[in-house]
Amino acid sequence: MRVLMVYDTVSEAKVTGKVADAVAAVMSEGGVPVEAYFVGDAKKVDARDYDCLIVGAPTMAWRPSRRMKEFLAGLEGSDLSGKVAATFDTQLRSSVSGNATKHMEKSLTRLGCRIAVPSLLAYVESEGNVYKLKSGEMEKVKAWGRDLAKALPKQA
Ligand SMILES: Cc1cc2nc3c(=O)[nH]c(=O)nc-3n(C[C@H](O)[C@H](O)[C@H](O)COP(=O)(O)O)c2cc1C
Repeated sequence: MRVLMVYDTVSEAKVTGKVADAVAAVMSEGGVPVEAYFVGDAKKVDARDYDCLIVGAPTMAWRPSRRMKEFLAGLEGSDLSGKVAATFDTQLRSSVSGNATKHMEKSLTRLGCRIAVPSLLAYVESEGNVYKLKSGEMEKVKAWGRDLAKALPKQA
């Protein structure tokens, strides 16, 4: 099972990047190595070469960050049927936050992917202009990574 992760992270605190690192680390510890790429470097890879695609982005203006939207738009026309996918985002915990994962899942499903597990919403808070994960969220992130590793088909 080859697993590709593509994530974006925008703020200086790189919160979504830290979530991505933690998910990749626990999955690798669980026997599922993950090849993780910052979205700005993802042109080097072809999603069609992988069995599983994990995408993560900050929620910005109720949607995935601009670079993630561009990455997903770039996949349009690729046949990813037979592959599994999972999504995560970082967002404020509010009824008006929106949800980047919903949009990312829709794009991946349209390309033919099957969603392996419910998406991860990692909640952030800000101190001034600096974002950080809320208390307890990193444990939730790691548990999600472990669950995802277990949910993936053992053989590609
Ligand atoms: C321009 C801008 C728009 C944002 N829009 C939303 C939003 O619609 N919903 C939300 O929950 N958080 C929103 N946020 C907060 C981001 O989700 C937060 O900055 C992000 O989780 C930080 O992750 P990063 O460090 O990986 O960039 C916004 C932040 C910025 C700077």
